[in-house]
Amino acid sequence: MEFLDGQLDNYVVNHTSEESDLLKRLNRETRSKVLQPRMLSGHLQGRVLSMLSKMIRPKRILEIGTYTGYSALCLAEGLTDDGELHTIDLNEELADMVQRYANESEYASKIKLHIGDAMQVVPTLKEDWDLIFIDADKENYLNYYNLLIGNLKSNAYIIADNVLWSGKVLENYDTLDSETRVLMDYNKTILADERVENVLFPIRDGLQIARVK
Ligand SMILES: C[S@@+](CC[C@H](N)C(=O)[O-])C[C@H]1O[C@@H](n2cnc3c(N)ncnc32)[C@H](O)[C@@H]1O
Repeated sequence: MEFLDGQLDNYVVNHTSEESDLLKRLNRETRSKVLQPRMLSGHLQGRVLSMLSKMIRPKRILEIGTYTGYSALCLAEGLTDDGELHTIDLNEELADMVQRYANESEYASKIKLHIGDAMQVVPTLKEDWDLIFIDADKENYLNYYNLLIGNLKSNAYIIADNVLWSGKVLENYDTLDSETRVLMDYNKTILADERVENVLFPIRDGLQIARVK
């Protein structure tokens, strides 16, 4: 499902800063060699993540769902000089590619890749997160949120991708699959949680942005 008319979507992309050459190459290599390249954030959402990160200036970023590392490289653009980005993925087959591109970037020493199930890895990372990007298995979105929210300080941000799920969140809850139900529950929970304020950005497949009060 396209949220914007095709021409308008092109206009938006054409009036947004370009991706770096490294990101363009990573985008191309992902499309030509890796399964499900639609999972990669891409030009527009990548620039949004970069801009948000530069506005927040995080010291510690947690990303759940690395894939080929595109969004990690975009988010790393906003890190402080002593900042680190920890990114988790259970697909070890992509680790070499992620590391290769991270090493070519200026954030090589700042990006820490963890291979494993994020539900197991997250509790082992004892960091004071400023920015969290949730972009892995939809069934666990609320579990990730519940695992992390209690330990976040004021002004920490949680960004969750795909919260519009190609528009499926408008359908009848009772007839839906478990992934869509969790995404609907996630959006409802964030809205009702008095510890955060939020905006659901209708960018690409929907970015739910919550700020801890
Ligand atoms: C949508 S992709 C991430 C895209 C990436 N953030 C980007 O924008 O370029 C989702 C990734 O989550 C990973 N994943 C799924 N379930 C996971 C889990 N339980 N723990 C860690 N990673 C998981 C998948 O292997 C996949 O690479």
